[in-house]
Amino acid sequence: MPRRLIAAEHIIAARDRARRRVEILPDDIVTTEAQEMAERLGIRLELGPFERPAPVVTDGATAARRALWRRSPRWVAPKQVTARTPMRIGKLALIGAGGVGTNIAHLAANRDMAEQISLIDIAPGLAESTALDLNHAAGVSRSRSRTEGGTHLSLVAGADIVVVSAGRARGPGMTRADLIDINQRIIHSTGSAIATHAPQAIVIVITNPLDEMTQAMLDVTGFPRQQVLGMAGTLDTSRFRTALALAAGVEVRDVEALTLGSHGAEMAPIVSHSRIKGRPLDAWLNPEQIQQCVQAAIGGGGQVVQLKKTGSATIAPAHACIEVIDHIRSARIGTVPVSVLLEGEYGIDDVVLGVPCHLGQSGLLVVEELPLSAQELSQLQQAAAAIKVRLGAAQ
Ligand code: 2OP
Repeated sequence: MPRRLIAAEHIIAARDRARRRVEILPDDIVTTEAQEMAERLGIRLELGPFERPAPVVTDGATAARRALWRRSPRWVAPKQVTARTPMRIGKLALIGAGGVGTNIAHLAANRDMAEQISLIDIAPGLAESTALDLNHAAGVSRSRSRTEGGTHLSLVAGADIVVVSAGRARGPGMTRADLIDINQRIIHSTGSAIATHAPQAIVIVITNPLDEMTQAMLDVTGFPRQQVLGMAGTLDTSRFRTALALAAGVEVRDVEALTLGSHGAEMAPIVSHSRIKGRPLDAWLNPEQIQQCVQAAIGGGGQVVQLKKTGSATIAPAHACIEVIDHIRSARIGTVPVSVLLEGEYGIDDVVLGVPCHLGQSGLLVVEELPLSAQELSQLQQAAAAIKVRLGAAQ
């Protein structure tokens, strides 16, 4: 075999095929970039040649029988199975052990998503007690995840994914934007600790105001945009989907919905890309009903705050965060709405906004540019302008 040059693209291609190891033959040349990429993506470079599985031998009669059966009208194509094997996360760190952080830890442990879950909270005893409680539950749930808790941000050390939900939550009558000053300080301290102790981690920001705090996290860590994601689109989309299902009287699983833009007043539920049982929304609902569903998505978080009085939603945000983590660890494929720094996509530059993204084990892979209606595109651009103004005012 001729001498091969193994470059970073080979490692990325291996990651996209969900490979955990790459075969290196004795004569291969492996570039430094490829070695660094492999380390970053957790892919092992192993000396080959690897043992190949024995080829499947089928006799002619069996092959003919199978071919004839496939032509039968009773034959149903098997479901396309994904070649990907979900990655089990080594360490998942959660900064903030309030309702959102605790629910994420609980869901992650129950799904056995991570070897280790580290919960961190400034309130003495809170993260420690929650960790102990979760470990006690493992006797019943049989989860292999081990949870630790503490007050020190250095507990993020070596994390593959860090979720930041620490910060003040809204009270009744407050907008998410009202939290910008106080929560920016929290993002600064948590971001500096992440940059120091977990420089390879993918950071998922949940703290509000979401888009502004994701931008602050990018600034303080200096991480590339691939590594810093804001979780809101999956939550807003979930609220939109639920409202559509209730209005149309169908099951939630019959609804495909999408919400982009900011996680605030400029949220943009995307009607043109939403479907109920595969058909456009106006085949099921009149314009007024569709508008009510749009408002249910935009105002859903506020409704919870009004009822609760002492904080904001915790369960739906935690599920929505798990959805993002599932895309990162290749348990799900396709796009997912996430807030990322835009670099010209949708005609928007240098601002964090919710857009459909392909994610993978290194974070953001690519922003999907969907064809949007003129009104939807202008909503996204207005959201970007409003975030820039708010960030400028908070400097
Ligand atoms: C929400 O929409 C907390 O912002 C979050 O519920």
